Amino acid sequence: MNTTTCESGRRTLTDVLIEAASVAVSHAPSVLNTQPWRWRVHTDRLELFADRSRQLTATDPDGRLLTLSCGTALHHARVALAARGWTCRVHRTTSASLPGLLAVLTGFDRIAVTPRARHEEYVLGVRHTDRRPVSDERLAPAVVRAIAAAAGDRAHLHVLTGEQVFDLSAASSRAAALQVRDPLACAELRYWTSRTMGEGTGLPDAVLPERPPQTTVPGRGFGHAGTLPIGRGHDRAATYALLYGDDDDPGGWLAAGEALSSIWLTATSLNVSVLPISDVVAVAGTRERLRRMLTAFDHPYLALRLGIAEPESGAARRTPRLPAAQLIDTTPANRAQYA
Ligand SMILES: Cc1cc2nc3c(=O)[nH]c(=O)nc-3n(C[C@H](O)[C@H](O)[C@H](O)COP(=O)(O)O)c2cc1C
Repeated sequence: MNTTTCESGRRTLTDVLIEAASVAVSHAPSVLNTQPWRWRVHTDRLELFADRSRQLTATDPDGRLLTLSCGTALHHARVALAARGWTCRVHRTTSASLPGLLAVLTGFDRIAVTPRARHEEYVLGVRHTDRRPVSDERLAPAVVRAIAAAAGDRAHLHVLTGEQVFDLSAASSRAAALQVRDPLACAELRYWTSRTMGEGTGLPDAVLPERPPQTTVPGRGFGHAGTLPIGRGHDRAATYALLYGDDDDPGGWLAAGEALSSIWLTATSLNVSVLPISDVVAVAGTRERLRRMLTAFDHPYLALRLGIAEPESGAARRTPRLPAAQLIDTTPANRAQYA
């Protein structure tokens, strides 16, 4: 088929690829809102690169959280393509031939736009991170099963037992204590959490709790209080889980990010809030504690809190994003189109 034009030739595939990349950079979640990605648009393919200039070098030196973040952007782009009636093959790569290249989307083909695909793209726009405690309403087992099923084949969700939640709590406190003692980690956290809304990256005060929530598992410390009112909630009824898989390498982390995006969209559709807890996996010692909660060959990628938001909390503020034009390189496509 002709892969360069669609819709009676009015919109080119290039236009659709630019739109998909724009949707991904406008909505995908990333650690500390670093947005460590870059897209390159060609006439017949879309490439996703890691942008190491926004890596957390002190707390994420291996780039596991950076790669997980890029995985969420990859999944977001595929959701946007499906909502426009396109499917593709994804070649995931961590090869050294093109530094930073993580994935190439090629082999585009038309598919019917389903109501589900349209709904998923709508959900991309309403998903957000809510750091407030959750309500006392427990998740129904069927809801937890539906969220776990959304992880797909290469990453899985392990729901923690009551005892394991206490272990997670201890590991979280330990990770926080270690990071507080590390001046580079503190400086890095300060750099990414002292932002105004207008700056487009990092976390502004409006999305950080006004005081530490009184929860069994402590929320991640951000080094200072924000202005987000946190109400009366707790985490007594929350479900805690580990996202895990077989491979503790960039391929596994990318797949974990794709799974995280899929889980988060399904949870949002089911009115369930998701809070990633990543400092416990960034610190090697506490990551090992989480690993012991799994079987011998599994590796933890991220801890997650799932819960129902407090009804009177109201909507959380949206975290800003960088302008799409700064993150999407359309030069190769333009050069080919207008040559
Ligand atoms: C890999 C990864 C790790 C994250 N870790 C945490 C965390 O430990 N604590 C937290 O409050 N939010 C965490 N987040 C959420 C991000 O801070 C959030 O996605 C980002 O600020 C953008 O905001 P949004 O999700 O509301 O769009 C994480 C997100 C990702 C993708």
